[in-house]
Amino acid sequence: MQKIAIIPGDGIGIDVTREAVKVFRRVNDIYRLNLQLEEFPFGADHYLKTGVSLPPGQMDDFRKNYAAIYLGALGDPRIPDMRHGREILLAMRFDLDLYINLRPVKLLHERLCPLKAKTKEDVNFVVLRENTEGPYVNAGGFLKKGTPDEVATQESYYTRKGTERIIRAAFEYAKTHNLLRVTMSDKSNVLRYGHDLWQRVFKKVGDEYPEIEKDHYFVDALVMKMVKSPEHFQVIVTENMLGDIITDLGAMLQGGLGMAGSGNIHPGQVSLFEPVHGSAPYMAGQNKANPIAAILTAAMTLDYLGHDKAARAVEAAVQKAVDENRVTADSGGKLGTKECGEFITEAIA
Ligand code: NAD
Ligand code: IPM
Ligand code: MN
Repeated sequence: MQKIAIIPGDGIGIDVTREAVKVFRRVNDIYRLNLQLEEFPFGADHYLKTGVSLPPGQMDDFRKNYAAIYLGALGDPRIPDMRHGREILLAMRFDLDLYINLRPVKLLHERLCPLKAKTKEDVNFVVLRENTEGPYVNAGGFLKKGTPDEVATQESYYTRKGTERIIRAAFEYAKTHNLLRVTMSDKSNVLRYGHDLWQRVFKKVGDEYPEIEKDHYFVDALVMKMVKSPEHFQVIVTENMLGDIITDLGAMLQGGLGMAGSGNIHPGQVSLFEPVHGSAPYMAGQNKANPIAAILTAAMTLDYLGHDKAARAVEAAVQKAVDENRVTADSGGKLGTKECGEFITEAIA
């Protein structure tokens, strides 16, 4: 038995998780996977009602008793500083040490790509975003806050261990998927300490993989190249915040945030899966959100749990929905969240 914690969260996270759960249940029946789904109410409503974002002991419960965690999205205008988001989502990434943020960028149909004359073959790569360091460590402070002399600092942390393990994960990903090029992106022409470490570690770890081409772009040139020649990329590895930014661009190349799934992974340990998109509050509860990112995220979860046949069946059902235009308005279709989710669920063979 494998337990999956389901956290729908806020906004459209709730709408799309409902559809992902249908998919989990369907493959559970067809393939007799013995998955047990358990739902948790953590999110803005729960936080505003109880003052608690994640109860004490919850992280340990996830760590010890669950194979995976599935999150819809967090974010609510009533909590403008996103405190609950940091205490749930970022806390899970950090406390569970989920150092690989795996974000595939895979175009499912030419018509979804905003670039001229780019095909499914042209847009097909993965980003491995470092997920536990960089500017996300929440180190810094204020001096003379609120005065004209105010100073605010925000520090970025880069450790050799953290840099090495994500870069190695990128080369291992390439190796196990028969890919021939790993691109590292940074801003080492300006950030002469932290990103210099990235340069040196990329060289050192890369030397262990002589069969794989080592490639580098400064991040400004990388985003240019992603738009101009996405076919160049196979595996991109980068630090936390640059990875956050480039994966929203990556999502657009595959048809928008409604199409992009992701995993927050520590190999061999409980890992967290969530669509790349947020809670899009203005479209929440209106049966408008695209459930495909959430459903592809469910496929990634299944893959992680070792159910590759079920994962491929879910992907094939999504491909069918896209090919037959049985999708939501953001992808050029006419279906609601529920109708799209049900079409995909029923299409799973
Ligand atoms: P967002 O991803 O929620 O939405 C940006 C835009 O993308 C939306 O306005 C919408 O047009 C489109 N979009 C996103 N998902 C879609 C879907 N499934 N179907 C159709 N269209 C979709 O980003 P935002 O507006 O910057 O953030 C809203 C809230 O979500 C904020 O509180 C933010 O902090 C939070 N957020 C959370 C996560 C997460 O939980 N992982 C990720 C990003 C943002
Ligand atoms: C993402 C989101 C998060 C991030 C926010 C909501 C903390 O944008 O998952 O891409 O910055 O990592
Ligand atoms: Mn983001």
